[in-house]
Amino acid sequence: MRSYKRWVALMAALVSVLGCAPADKPPLADHRLDDPPPLTEYRPGAAGIGDPDFPTDGNGGYDVSHYDLDIDYVPVTKQLHGVATIKAAATQDLSSFNLDFSGMTVSKVTVNNATATFRRQGSELTVTPSEPIDVKSRFTVKVTYAGQPQPIRDSANLGTFGFVATPDGAFVASEPDGSKTWFPNNDHPADKATYDFTITVPAGVTALANGELVGRPTTAQGKTTFRWRERQPMASYLATATMGMFDLREGRTPAGITEIAAVDPKFKKSLNTLFKLSGEITDYWSTVFGPYPFSSTGGIVDDFAAGYALENQTKPLYGGFEPDPSIIAHELAHQWFGDSLSIKRWSELWLNEGFATYAEWLWSEHKGGKTAEAIFNQEHARPASDPIWAYPPGRARPEDLFNASVYARGAMTLHALRKAIGDATFFKLLKTWTADHRNGNVTTEEFIRLAEQLSGKNLRPLFDAWLFQPQRPA
Ligand code: ARG
Ligand code: ZN
Repeated sequence: MRSYKRWVALMAALVSVLGCAPADKPPLADHRLDDPPPLTEYRPGAAGIGDPDFPTDGNGGYDVSHYDLDIDYVPVTKQLHGVATIKAAATQDLSSFNLDFSGMTVSKVTVNNATATFRRQGSELTVTPSEPIDVKSRFTVKVTYAGQPQPIRDSANLGTFGFVATPDGAFVASEPDGSKTWFPNNDHPADKATYDFTITVPAGVTALANGELVGRPTTAQGKTTFRWRERQPMASYLATATMGMFDLREGRTPAGITEIAAVDPKFKKSLNTLFKLSGEITDYWSTVFGPYPFSSTGGIVDDFAAGYALENQTKPLYGGFEPDPSIIAHELAHQWFGDSLSIKRWSELWLNEGFATYAEWLWSEHKGGKTAEAIFNQEHARPASDPIWAYPPGRARPEDLFNASVYARGAMTLHALRKAIGDATFFKLLKTWTADHRNGNVTTEEFIRLAEQLSGKNLRPLFDAWLFQPQRPA
C-alpha cells in the first residue's frame, strides 16, 4: 500500500511535469474498478481545523501529540531564537500541511529529518515535505525560527495577548489564538498535546512554563537553561514561557499536590498569599470537582497590566494585579473546566467561563460569604434591558467571545440546573463530567446528555432558555 501510493504520487508528479494530464484536476474518489487508479490520494491538509467561527485557526490533516520547544530569549534585544520539534500523526494522506505561525523569520523546516519546503501567508505556514505522508503515520516536523515576537493587540475586546515582551522578560498568555505569536503550532483547543520546554535566558532571569521542572536549571557562559515538562495534554493557548525577575515559592498544598508560585518583585508581598490561597483552593476544588487533573498547581503574578488573568495549565497567570480569592478560585476551577476538559469549538466557551464563574460563587458560599443562590438572584434581577439577556451564552460570538453573558449567564445556567436536579445529582454530575472527559475535549451537547442521564429529567427546555434564547429566562 505504502510503496504503491508513493509510486502513484511519483507518477502523478511526472505526469504533471510532462503536461500529459491536467495537474489541477482532483482525482475522483469514487473511481470504478476498471478505471485507471487515481493519480494521487495525497492532498494538502486544510488551513483550518474546522471551527466555523475561526476558519483559519488550527489546521486539518494531522493531530499533534507532542511539542518540544527549545527557546532562547534575550529581554534587552527582545530577540527569540526557537526550534520547535512537533510530533504528529497524519489523519489523511498529506502532500502538504499547515502550521499556524505569525511574525519572526523561519530559516529551516524538516519533516522526518529531511529538508522540507515552506511558504508563509499571513498566519499560515505551509510545509511541503520531500516525501508525502501516509494517513495514520507518525511524523516529526522541526521548525527553526528567530525574531522579535509580536503579540496580538485587539483594541475591541481581547486586549493584548500572545507573547508580550516586558522590560525583564515576557508575559505569555495566549487565549484564544495567540500561541502562534511565539511557536508554530496547531492553534486550536481541539488539538491537545504534551509539551517539553527548554528555555534559555540571561543568568538571573527566571523562565516559567507549564508543568514541573526537569532537573535543576543549568548556567553556563552567563545564560541559564530551564527545562519544564507538561505531562498532561494541553491546549496550545494554555502554553506559557513567562520570563523575568521572579520571587519563587515551591512546596506542596496541604493535601500534598506539588505547588509553584512566582511573583514579579513588584508583587513581593503577594507571594505567600498567592501560594497559600492557590494551595487551599486547589485542594478544595479536588473535593468538589474530582481529583486534580495535573501534576502540579500554583500561579504567577507578572508586572504587565493585561487587564485579565489566564488559566495557563498548572500555572494561572495574573496580569499586573494582586489576585483576590475569587479570581484565584476562578482560574483554578479552569484547571478542570477548560484545561483538563477543553472545548471543541470556541462558540461553546461557556463550558469554560460559565463553570469558572460558578466556581467563584461556590467559593463564596464555601467561605460563608454570599451563597450561590444569593448571587444568582442578584444576577437574575438584572433588568430585561441588560445586554446579558440579548446575548445567549451557549453560542459565544467570535467577535465578542468573552462577553459578560458567557461568564455570568453561563454560571446562572449551572445554578438553574442545580436547582432543577438537586444538590446531590448536580455535584455528582460535575464529578462524572470531569472524570469522563479528563484530558479530553467536550461539547455542550455532551454535557446536556449527561445531565439528563444522571437526573432522569428532560432538561432541554432549561438549557434552551438559559443558553440559547435572546431574552431573560423567567
Ligand atoms: N480565560 C480568561 C479568564 O476568564 C480570560 C482570557 C481573556 N483573553 C484575552 N485575550 N483578553 O480568566
Ligand atoms: Zn475564566
